[in-house]
Amino acid sequence: MAEPILKWVGGKRQLLQELHSRFPISYDKYHEPFIGGGAVFFDIEPSKGTINDLNRRLITFYEVIRDRPEQLIKENHRHEYEEEYYYDARDRFNELHKLDDRSLEQQVEEASLMLYLNRTGYNGLYRENQSGGFNVPFGRHSNPDFIRERQIRKASDILDDIEIHNQDFDYVVDDAEEGDLVYFDPPYQPVSQTADFTQYQSDGFDKDDQRRLRDIAVKLSKNGVYVVISNSPPVGELYENVSGFTIDIVGATRMVNSDADNRDDVAEVIITNVPTDNQQQQDLGNYV
Ligand SMILES: C[S@@+](CC[C@H](N)C(=O)[O-])C[C@H]1O[C@@H](n2cnc3c(N)ncnc32)[C@H](O)[C@@H]1O
Repeated sequence: MAEPILKWVGGKRQLLQELHSRFPISYDKYHEPFIGGGAVFFDIEPSKGTINDLNRRLITFYEVIRDRPEQLIKENHRHEYEEEYYYDARDRFNELHKLDDRSLEQQVEEASLMLYLNRTGYNGLYRENQSGGFNVPFGRHSNPDFIRERQIRKASDILDDIEIHNQDFDYVVDDAEEGDLVYFDPPYQPVSQTADFTQYQSDGFDKDDQRRLRDIAVKLSKNGVYVVISNSPPVGELYENVSGFTIDIVGATRMVNSDADNRDDVAEVIITNVPTDNQQQQDLGNYV
């Protein structure tokens, strides 16, 4: 049960129990094609499989953790928690991003800056502008930990036998075999404004991509691969007529402050082809 190293938008920590309880009791390899901060991946610590994300800096970060943990830890010690230093580090991080090819040293430098900026930036957010520039301002934290020595060594061990990709999620059709588990956590379809969400995109991921993902889930299912998908509730509609998949809305409307009008809707949908009698909840007594 390791922790994620980075804080990432859409982090799945709240949903871990709901997801785990639907995972199959046993499976071969584990694949996570939208890894982000990897909350689920690091929590289950799979020994074989693949992770992937379209974000190149994030993927370089995981490669450096897997292959060069000691160099990364050494590099992390160079940083200072200070506002002017932060903005210089941010400029350097964005300069490195503009290079097509980066040396191994530059990759370690980039990974270290990514961790530093994630731990010291405003709210621990990761946000890029249209042209890929990281633009989060300096944040006020008490004693931020951007060395993370223990967590990096642990993550490096977990990633040891994991293949890391930087491409579209469709690679998984070739990589996943019968008996494997694929957990998809794609960018969320916004729930608000209208039920017809054709107009909305997040992370450049639109409704056609959600449909493409559904078609891939169906193909994987036909190949005997276990599939679990999480998203915002409207995405469940895409799976309504797909046989072999169940759609569950989980989570609840949570009140923020003690004010009934001030609510934070945290409902999510979990879609899966794992048969109920093969889900871990059967094994774990509802995972209490
Ligand atoms: C909701 S986040 C995943 C959050 C993650 N489960 C966590 O716990 O932090 C979705 C991720 O999908 C990536 N992404 C967007 N489009 C993609 C695509 N077509 N193929 C693969 N990854 C993509 C984004 O870069 C982002 O990191």
